[in-house]
Amino acid sequence: MPDALTLSLPFTPRRIVVGANAHADIAAAIRAARPEFEVRGAPFMEITAADISWADTYIGFKRPPAAHDMGAVQWVHSTGAGVDGWLGQGLDPRILLTRSPESFGPMIAEWAVARVFAVQQQLASLLDAQREQRWAPRDIARVAGTRALLVGTGDIGSHIATAFAALGIAVTGVSRSGRASHPAFDRVHSIDRLADLVGHADWIVLSVPDTPESRGLVSRAVLERCQGAVLLNAGRGSVVEEAALPEALDRGWLRAAALDVFTTEPLPVSSPLWGHPKVLVSPHISGLTTIAGATEGFLECAASLERGVLPKWVVDRARGY
Ligand code: GLV
Repeated sequence: MPDALTLSLPFTPRRIVVGANAHADIAAAIRAARPEFEVRGAPFMEITAADISWADTYIGFKRPPAAHDMGAVQWVHSTGAGVDGWLGQGLDPRILLTRSPESFGPMIAEWAVARVFAVQQQLASLLDAQREQRWAPRDIARVAGTRALLVGTGDIGSHIATAFAALGIAVTGVSRSGRASHPAFDRVHSIDRLADLVGHADWIVLSVPDTPESRGLVSRAVLERCQGAVLLNAGRGSVVEEAALPEALDRGWLRAAALDVFTTEPLPVSSPLWGHPKVLVSPHISGLTTIAGATEGFLECAASLERGVLPKWVVDRARGY
């Protein structure tokens, strides 16, 4: 728990800045629920230093470029699950940081299932053949009976596990605690066993945030232990040694990679991942914040602060989530 916060409890947010593309809808929903709150907003790139110095509360996914410091802001509510856009930017520890309680798991599970079938059903090469009007039969293997290793067993990992289990995929998890968090996992091991386990997986799915512990977790050495798995990353690009991916794919350590997150976003045009025939790129869309989720999460945290209680969704800065 934070110990030296600028705000004192109970705390009522008075001047709120929303830095998001959907700022107008989020601001309207907040005003509808709490007409006494003053709310301003802009896309995060357009937030000005004047906005920041006006506000006591900020809502957004990451620190806006104009905010060299957070002025008089005492509370930041992250609209995303990952808070690396704040902690990675050295957010003053005296500012309260909460994160969205929105469940991104169901949507990310659909993203993952779509990638599993795209790869297994060879959709990309069938589409290539169709465009060339080429009749190109091939063997298609069943997804049922394959094995997945899920790195991250929280809300997102548990939803992916449930969806995969329903398809007949055997699901193993790895987590910090090594304890099973959900019945859809056949078993859960400590993250320390990652390198030993990747060789037994057909699918390796990453849903962990960027933290000092997760950074570089899927290193070249770990990739080298893979036996033709498909890597799915819906967590953060920093979790994988991205520079080693082309080699891992070319040498067959990985059969394919479906990547929604990258060390640099947008993915630079110079990246070899764009054109690699075994890579499916998506532009960080696997789990999207909704207007209702952003608003309700903020209002829930605000109500808690007004009662004088720290919200359940306070980020543990030592853990990084
Ligand atoms: C998206 O990546 C999020 O952290 O919500």
